[in-house]
Amino acid sequence: MANKKLTEAKNTKNDEFYTQYEDIQREINAYLEYTPDVFKGKTVLLPCDDPEWSNFTRFFAQNFENFGLKKLISTSYAIESKSIKEGYQLTIFEMESPQFDEDKTKTHGKIFTLTRDSNKSGVIDIDDLEWTYLEGDGDFRSDEVKALRDEADIIITNPPFSLFREFLAWIMEADKEFVIIGNMNAITYKEVFPLLMNNKVWLGNGFNAGNAYFRPASANTSEYANGVYDDKTGLVKFRNCCWFTNLDHGRRHQPLSLMTMDDNIKFSKHKEIKNSGYNRYDNYDAIEVPFTDGIPSDYNGIMGVPISFLPKYCPEQFEILGMCENLDLYGLKTRVYTTQECQERYFEIFGKKGTYDLNASGVVNGYKVYQRILIRKKVSDK
Ligand SMILES: C[S@@+](CC[C@H](N)C(=O)[O-])C[C@H]1O[C@@H](n2cnc3c(N)ncnc32)[C@H](O)[C@@H]1O
Repeated sequence: MANKKLTEAKNTKNDEFYTQYEDIQREINAYLEYTPDVFKGKTVLLPCDDPEWSNFTRFFAQNFENFGLKKLISTSYAIESKSIKEGYQLTIFEMESPQFDEDKTKTHGKIFTLTRDSNKSGVIDIDDLEWTYLEGDGDFRSDEVKALRDEADIIITNPPFSLFREFLAWIMEADKEFVIIGNMNAITYKEVFPLLMNNKVWLGNGFNAGNAYFRPASANTSEYANGVYDDKTGLVKFRNCCWFTNLDHGRRHQPLSLMTMDDNIKFSKHKEIKNSGYNRYDNYDAIEVPFTDGIPSDYNGIMGVPISFLPKYCPEQFEILGMCENLDLYGLKTRVYTTQECQERYFEIFGKKGTYDLNASGVVNGYKVYQRILIRKKVSDK
């Protein structure tokens, strides 16, 4: 129970991180480069935001005319509903607005909309945002925000980390276009992986060198492992974040440049491959490829590759057949370990009684390897 509480606390704490302008710009530019009119005439919803100081709102409001947007809607979550309230400050913008309400601001979310040149300056930009309090607290699951979702064409945000599964399902049930930030681990969730496998969702262009920087609501440095929080910038750095989307972009159509199997065996920089070649799994019909850059270009069978392959996945080059964990679904199993074998291997590894589940994932020479994605070269890729 105590452990569950701790995990919950960690999860909810993780919900208050704010995305950097440069990261949003870099990602959105990738979609614009591929489809210049991707936002033209569209209604964009930015939920789970804090419009007064959100970089998402700032970025899209500033580019409203540039992108040819029809409408921009941005909603925030009420302060009292947030998991972390300290560090959250009301903006002067809100306090000086005629509609400011000291009580409502605690328990109601806010909605900002941009459709017209409300201040008659000659351009539609951030200064034309109009706002009011929502009826409820701005929870994305509320009927009120659901109606905004249904009105929108594209949904873009960094949703609460702890509600990622629910948030993606919320988008998928409405069949909307989207660009959202999530944890790399979400790739393996049973609700997410089939979407990636079937090319209904893919990874976005990505953070610069894989480093995602966020501004945390509270600068309690004891919450972070060494090197995560930077005192000077006030930012945290996460290596395990990525963008999930169903908008197309150029990177996903660039095939990986790979060596043949023979060349890998001769020249690979990985000692696991050089001179020794590729292992086969004991329990299914595929070769184990421990590094994405070690995928042999001329192998036509099934290959188990690391999760880190996914940001480099090009659907014209490879097809995804499954994950080690759902082998039964794909009829790839070649061997089932007995209970006795699983118990013996556990004892051999840990020196005590237990069961090492040799049937649950990829196994090489009787030992489990890390989680693997199963891929095969596309027939059309020569
Ligand atoms: C990771 S932060 C990102 C904030 C902002 N979108 C950004 O990227 O700068 C997620 C936000 O979602 C809010 N939030 C948490 N649970 C929510 C819910 N159920 N509905 C709507 N917003 C929620 C949090 O308070 C937090 O402000």
